[in-house]
Amino acid sequence: MDLFEYQARDLFAKHGVPVLAGEVIDTPEAARAVTERLGGRSVVKAQVKVGGRGKAGGVKLASSPDDAVEKAGQILGMDIKGHTVHKVMLAETAPDIAEEYYVSYLLDRTNRTFLAMASVEGGMDIEEVAATKPEALAKIPIDANDGVSQEKAAEIVAAAKFPAEVADQVADILVTLWKTFIAEDALLIEVNPLAKLADGRVIALDGKVSLDENADFRQPDHEALEDKAAANPLEAAAKAKNLNYVKLDGEVGIIGNGAGLVMSTLDVVAYAGEGHSGVKPANFLDIGGGASAEVMANGLEIILGDPDVKSVFVNVFGGITACDEVANGIVQALELLKNKGEAVTKPLVVRLDGNNAELGRKILSDANHPLVQRVDTMDGAADKAAELAAAAK
Ligand SMILES: Nc1ncnc2c1ncn2[C@@H]1O[C@H](COP(=O)(O)OP(=O)(O)OP(=O)(O)O)[C@@H](O)[C@H]1O
Ligand SMILES: [Mg+2]
Repeated sequence: MDLFEYQARDLFAKHGVPVLAGEVIDTPEAARAVTERLGGRSVVKAQVKVGGRGKAGGVKLASSPDDAVEKAGQILGMDIKGHTVHKVMLAETAPDIAEEYYVSYLLDRTNRTFLAMASVEGGMDIEEVAATKPEALAKIPIDANDGVSQEKAAEIVAAAKFPAEVADQVADILVTLWKTFIAEDALLIEVNPLAKLADGRVIALDGKVSLDENADFRQPDHEALEDKAAANPLEAAAKAKNLNYVKLDGEVGIIGNGAGLVMSTLDVVAYAGEGHSGVKPANFLDIGGGASAEVMANGLEIILGDPDVKSVFVNVFGGITACDEVANGIVQALELLKNKGEAVTKPLVVRLDGNNAELGRKILSDANHPLVQRVDTMDGAADKAAELAAAAK
């Protein structure tokens, strides 16, 4: 889960990373009182979960409370790379920024380690620095068990060639940021710019944090950081039912057992769709191994409730859960939905293979549901589902 800058700022403040005062608002008028509290000036910053806000005009200096109202009015409602600005943060204005640095920690999946990145050429052009001057961006692997000690921090500071006069402050910030990274179960923490002010202080002026949702069970505070307003209602409903669901923008609903099978089902459907007016998968939904009738019903309910869905492809490879159990699950799921008054009106294509496939297929055939078609190969079933979706479009 990506956080907004103001939430990252709050986490930094909580763990002792130096930041400036800031408050988040969602109406231009609210900017007046906040700017007065911040000493009469403020930096008005768009809160969107996308980079390059400054270059898009989403970061503006306000010289007075009136000016802040005007700037907030300009930024609220603005579109930045497809993200509408609903909130702005008003930050205390940093007096005279002397230098802008870059530091980050992230999970480096390729190398199965964590990675620290740091540069003395931070600021809004860091992407360009990384692309054209890679030697200016130090990359230091961090051992998960050792973490970032003062010595490790000193190593990062030396590798990025931080000036001697800020070396100790930057090292302390690196240690504190690492503690934040671990304590919050983050996957990414990025500070850009980490600014050196004219008076010599080093302060985090911008923060990007991404939290690991797999750790939610031990991070009760993280739920409050979720952007409920932006959540897709279908995804929210699926989450409430503990389903592994991602909404996509096509027309063929997909249900499968096992993430790998579902991923390849998406590919096969996208390919088949090319022959049927370009229909595409409408979602990812993995009901996992051992799916009961209830889980199948929950999954079907979410998918059939998506107005974009024109047909559904249920792709099951029986393993530990045998196909006859899945077939019974499908039949019972349709029954459950009918009893709940949720008439199933979209065609379902079911492919069953693997453990007890024959029996499963027989159960479906015997049930003889008017909207369920059995196709016994994955390619054939994908093609049928795409054809039905195209016909209903
Ligand atoms: N509180 C502040 N006081 C003074 N100047 C600031 C302050 N916050 C940001 N700035 C200036 O504005 C620039 C852009 O701000 P910031 O880094 O927050 O946005 P951004 O980098 O454009 O956004 P993103 O990180 O999403 O790409 C900074 O590099 C800094 O020079
Ligand atoms: Mg930035």
